[in-house]
Amino acid sequence: DYFVRKPWIGGNWKSNGSVAANQERVTTLNSIPHEDPPVDVVVFPTFVHIPKVIEQLTVPIEVGAQNCSRTNEGAFTGEISAKMLKEMGVKWILCGHSERRQLFYENDECIAEKVEKVLDCNIVAVICIGETLEERNAGKSIEVCMRQLNAVILKITDWSKIVIAYEPIWAIGTGVVASPEVAEQVHQEIRAFLQTQVSNEVAQKTRLVYGGSVNAANCEDLILKPNIDGFLVGGASLKPEFNSIVTKVR
Ligand code: PGA
Repeated sequence: DYFVRKPWIGGNWKSNGSVAANQERVTTLNSIPHEDPPVDVVVFPTFVHIPKVIEQLTVPIEVGAQNCSRTNEGAFTGEISAKMLKEMGVKWILCGHSERRQLFYENDECIAEKVEKVLDCNIVAVICIGETLEERNAGKSIEVCMRQLNAVILKITDWSKIVIAYEPIWAIGTGVVASPEVAEQVHQEIRAFLQTQVSNEVAQKTRLVYGGSVNAANCEDLILKPNIDGFLVGGASLKPEFNSIVTKVR
Protein backbone atom coordinates (compact mmCIF):
# COMPACT_ATOMS: atom_id res chain seq x y z
CA ASP A 1 0.00 0.00 0.00
CA TYR A 2 1.37 3.36 -1.07
CA PHE A 3 0.28 5.15 2.11
CA VAL A 4 1.12 2.58 4.78
CA ARG A 5 2.84 4.29 7.72
CA LYS A 6 5.37 2.16 9.58
CA PRO A 7 4.75 2.42 13.35
CA TRP A 8 7.31 4.50 15.21
CA ILE A 9 8.24 4.20 18.89
CA GLY A 10 10.68 6.52 20.58
CA GLY A 11 12.10 6.20 24.07
CA ASN A 12 12.98 9.64 25.42
CA TRP A 13 15.35 8.99 28.30
CA LYS A 14 15.49 12.72 29.12
CA SER A 15 18.22 13.77 31.55
CA ASN A 16 18.49 10.29 33.05
CA GLY A 17 21.09 7.59 32.83
CA SER A 18 24.56 6.48 33.76
CA VAL A 19 26.95 4.13 32.05
CA ALA A 20 25.75 1.26 34.28
CA ALA A 21 22.02 2.03 34.08
CA ASN A 22 22.16 2.46 30.31
CA GLN A 23 24.04 -0.78 29.89
CA GLU A 24 21.19 -2.50 31.70
CA ARG A 25 18.60 -0.76 29.49
CA VAL A 26 20.45 -1.70 26.33
CA THR A 27 20.68 -5.32 27.45
CA THR A 28 16.88 -5.31 27.82
CA LEU A 29 16.44 -3.65 24.41
CA ASN A 30 18.74 -6.24 22.85
CA SER A 31 16.24 -8.92 23.81
CA ILE A 32 13.46 -7.42 21.65
CA PRO A 33 12.83 -9.89 18.86
CA HIS A 34 13.00 -8.16 15.51
CA GLU A 35 10.39 -9.67 13.33
CA ASP A 36 7.59 -8.61 11.00
CA PRO A 37 5.68 -6.41 10.81
CA PRO A 38 8.41 -3.81 10.88
CA VAL A 39 8.44 -0.98 13.38
CA ASP A 40 10.94 1.86 13.87
CA VAL A 41 12.31 1.88 17.41
CA VAL A 42 14.54 4.76 18.49
CA VAL A 43 16.03 5.55 21.89
CA PHE A 44 17.16 9.02 22.91
CA PRO A 45 19.90 8.96 25.58
CA THR A 46 21.71 12.11 26.73
CA PHE A 47 24.36 13.47 24.35
CA VAL A 48 27.24 12.05 26.37
CA HIS A 49 25.77 8.57 26.46
CA ILE A 50 24.97 8.33 22.75
CA PRO A 51 28.21 6.68 21.49
CA LYS A 52 28.18 3.94 24.12
CA VAL A 53 24.52 3.12 23.54
CA ILE A 54 25.13 2.86 19.79
CA GLU A 55 28.09 0.58 20.43
CA GLN A 56 26.14 -1.69 22.78
CA LEU A 57 22.95 -2.15 20.73
CA THR A 58 22.95 -5.43 18.83
CA VAL A 59 19.40 -5.19 17.42
CA PRO A 60 18.11 -2.79 14.75
CA ILE A 61 17.16 -0.04 17.19
CA GLU A 62 18.41 3.41 16.27
CA VAL A 63 19.69 6.19 18.46
CA GLY A 64 18.53 9.77 18.50
CA ALA A 65 19.41 13.00 20.29
CA GLN A 66 17.02 14.97 22.48
CA ASN A 67 18.13 18.33 21.18
CA CYS A 68 20.75 20.04 19.02
CA SER A 69 22.16 23.48 18.45
CA ARG A 70 20.24 26.09 16.47
CA THR A 71 23.61 26.99 14.93
CA ASN A 72 26.24 25.26 12.86
CA GLU A 73 29.66 24.76 14.42
CA GLY A 74 31.70 27.72 15.54
CA ALA A 75 32.02 30.04 18.48
CA PHE A 76 28.90 28.80 20.29
CA THR A 77 30.14 27.65 23.69
CA GLY A 78 28.36 24.61 25.02
CA GLU A 79 26.42 23.81 21.86
CA ILE A 80 26.32 20.52 19.96
CA SER A 81 25.50 20.72 16.27
CA ALA A 82 23.39 18.37 14.19
CA LYS A 83 26.44 17.67 12.03
CA MET A 84 28.43 16.46 15.06
CA LEU A 85 25.54 14.23 16.05
CA LYS A 86 25.33 12.86 12.53
CA GLU A 87 28.99 11.85 12.68
CA MET A 88 28.33 10.00 15.94
CA GLY A 89 25.62 7.91 14.28
CA VAL A 90 22.50 9.81 15.30
CA LYS A 91 19.59 9.26 12.91
CA TRP A 92 16.82 11.19 14.68
CA ILE A 93 16.68 14.44 16.68
CA LEU A 94 13.84 15.71 18.87
CA CYS A 95 13.00 19.34 18.11
CA GLY A 96 10.90 21.48 20.41
CA HIS A 97 10.13 19.07 23.21
CA SER A 98 7.89 20.91 25.66
CA GLU A 99 10.60 20.75 28.32
CA ARG A 100 12.88 22.64 25.94
CA ARG A 101 10.13 25.16 25.23
CA GLN A 102 9.10 25.66 28.85
CA LEU A 103 12.27 25.24 30.90
CA PHE A 104 14.88 26.42 28.38
CA TYR A 105 12.90 29.18 26.69
CA GLU A 106 12.94 27.78 23.16
CA ASN A 107 10.43 29.66 21.07
CA ASP A 108 8.90 28.74 17.72
CA GLU A 109 11.63 30.57 15.81
CA CYS A 110 14.42 28.76 17.65
CA ILE A 111 12.77 25.41 17.01
CA ALA A 112 12.36 26.22 13.33
CA GLU A 113 16.10 26.95 13.10
CA LYS A 114 16.84 23.61 14.74
CA VAL A 115 14.57 21.73 12.33
CA GLU A 116 16.42 23.39 9.46
CA LYS A 117 19.83 22.31 10.81
CA VAL A 118 18.60 18.77 11.38
CA LEU A 119 17.24 18.45 7.84
CA ASP A 120 20.44 19.97 6.40
CA CYS A 121 22.24 16.95 7.86
CA ASN A 122 19.71 14.52 6.44
CA ILE A 123 18.63 13.51 9.95
CA VAL A 124 14.96 12.96 10.79
CA ALA A 125 13.42 15.77 12.86
CA VAL A 126 10.89 14.56 15.43
CA ILE A 127 8.94 17.77 15.92
CA CYS A 128 7.15 17.95 19.27
CA ILE A 129 4.04 20.06 19.70
CA GLY A 130 1.27 20.25 22.25
CA GLU A 131 -0.80 22.51 24.46
CA THR A 132 -0.80 23.26 28.19
CA LEU A 133 -3.73 22.36 30.43
CA GLU A 134 -4.73 26.00 30.52
CA GLU A 135 -4.80 26.15 26.74
CA ARG A 136 -6.83 22.94 26.53
CA ASN A 137 -9.35 24.25 29.03
CA ALA A 138 -9.65 27.43 27.01
CA GLY A 139 -10.47 25.37 23.91
CA LYS A 140 -7.18 26.35 22.25
CA SER A 141 -5.49 22.96 21.77
CA ILE A 142 -5.80 22.92 18.01
CA GLU A 143 -4.90 26.58 17.62
CA VAL A 144 -1.70 26.11 19.65
CA CYS A 145 -0.65 22.98 17.76
CA MET A 146 -1.25 24.65 14.40
CA ARG A 147 0.74 27.72 15.46
CA GLN A 148 3.63 25.47 16.47
CA LEU A 149 3.44 23.61 13.16
CA ASN A 150 3.13 26.77 11.11
CA ALA A 151 6.37 28.02 12.63
CA VAL A 152 8.36 25.09 11.22
CA ILE A 153 6.51 24.21 8.06
CA LEU A 154 8.43 26.55 5.75
CA LYS A 155 11.75 25.04 6.86
CA ILE A 156 10.69 21.57 5.81
CA THR A 157 12.25 20.61 2.51
CA ASP A 158 11.89 16.84 2.77
CA TRP A 159 8.80 15.50 4.49
CA SER A 160 10.13 11.95 4.47
CA LYS A 161 12.50 13.23 7.18
CA ILE A 162 9.76 14.37 9.56
CA VAL A 163 7.86 12.73 12.40
CA ILE A 164 5.37 14.84 14.34
CA ALA A 165 4.86 14.07 18.02
CA TYR A 166 1.69 15.40 19.63
CA GLU A 167 2.55 15.68 23.31
CA PRO A 168 -0.01 17.58 25.36
CA ILE A 169 1.89 19.09 28.28
CA TRP A 170 -0.79 18.09 30.78
CA ALA A 171 -0.14 14.45 29.91
CA ILE A 172 3.66 14.50 30.14
CA GLY A 173 4.99 12.80 33.24
CA THR A 174 1.64 13.19 35.00
CA GLY A 175 0.16 9.72 34.59
CA VAL A 176 -2.82 11.46 32.93
CA VAL A 177 -2.75 9.94 29.45
CA ALA A 178 -4.91 11.54 26.75
CA SER A 179 -7.86 9.34 25.92
CA PRO A 180 -7.64 7.63 22.54
CA GLU A 181 -10.51 9.89 21.38
CA VAL A 182 -8.82 13.12 22.47
CA ALA A 183 -5.48 12.14 20.94
CA GLU A 184 -7.13 10.91 17.73
CA GLN A 185 -9.03 14.17 17.34
CA VAL A 186 -5.84 16.25 17.46
CA HIS A 187 -4.03 13.86 15.13
CA GLN A 188 -6.91 14.13 12.67
CA GLU A 189 -6.64 17.90 12.78
CA ILE A 190 -2.88 17.75 12.21
CA ARG A 191 -3.39 15.51 9.19
CA ALA A 192 -6.05 17.84 7.83
CA PHE A 193 -3.66 20.76 8.33
CA LEU A 194 -0.93 18.94 6.39
CA GLN A 195 -3.40 18.18 3.63
CA THR A 196 -4.37 21.82 3.14
CA GLN A 197 -0.98 23.39 3.85
CA VAL A 198 1.31 20.86 2.18
CA SER A 199 -0.24 18.04 0.15
CA ASN A 200 -2.45 15.01 0.40
CA GLU A 201 0.55 12.75 -0.04
CA VAL A 202 2.45 14.37 2.85
CA ALA A 203 -0.68 14.25 5.00
CA GLN A 204 -1.10 10.53 4.34
CA LYS A 205 2.56 9.55 4.66
CA THR A 206 3.76 11.57 7.65
CA ARG A 207 3.84 9.68 10.91
CA LEU A 208 2.00 11.35 13.78
CA VAL A 209 2.88 9.88 17.15
CA TYR A 210 1.39 10.53 20.55
CA GLY A 211 3.36 11.22 23.74
CA GLY A 212 2.37 11.76 27.36
CA SER A 213 2.13 9.05 30.02
CA VAL A 214 2.14 6.21 27.49
CA ASN A 215 2.67 2.83 29.10
CA ALA A 216 2.22 -0.87 28.35
CA ALA A 217 -1.35 -0.77 29.70
CA ASN A 218 -2.69 2.13 27.63
CA CYS A 219 -0.76 1.84 24.36
CA GLU A 220 -2.99 -0.80 22.78
CA ASP A 221 -6.16 1.32 22.83
CA LEU A 222 -4.28 4.35 21.49
CA ILE A 223 -2.61 2.52 18.60
CA LEU A 224 -5.99 1.25 17.38
CA LYS A 225 -6.86 4.79 16.31
CA PRO A 226 -6.27 5.25 12.60
CA ASN A 227 -4.29 8.50 12.90
CA ILE A 228 -2.01 7.44 15.76
CA ASP A 229 1.12 5.94 14.23
CA GLY A 230 3.18 5.32 17.34
CA PHE A 231 4.47 6.87 20.52
CA LEU A 232 7.10 9.01 22.13
CA VAL A 233 7.57 7.41 25.53
CA GLY A 234 9.28 9.07 28.49
CA GLY A 235 9.07 7.46 31.91
CA ALA A 236 8.13 3.99 30.68
CA SER A 237 11.06 3.97 28.25
CA LEU A 238 13.43 3.74 31.22
CA LYS A 239 11.90 0.43 32.26
CA PRO A 240 11.68 -3.07 30.77
CA GLU A 241 8.04 -2.12 30.10
CA PHE A 242 9.32 -0.41 26.94
CA ASN A 243 9.82 -3.85 25.38
CA SER A 244 6.12 -4.63 25.95
CA ILE A 245 5.11 -1.36 24.29
CA VAL A 246 7.14 -2.29 21.22
CA THR A 247 5.63 -5.78 21.16
CA LYS A 248 2.08 -4.50 21.59
CA VAL A 249 2.37 -1.82 18.92
CA ARG A 250 3.80 -4.27 16.42
P1 PGA B 1 6.17 10.64 29.69
O1 PGA B 1 7.03 11.64 28.79
O2 PGA B 1 5.95 9.39 28.88
O3 PGA B 1 7.01 10.39 30.91
O4 PGA B 1 4.89 11.31 30.01
C1 PGA B 1 6.82 11.75 27.41
C2 PGA B 1 7.76 12.77 26.82
O5 PGA B 1 8.04 13.80 27.47
O6 PGA B 1 8.25 12.61 25.69
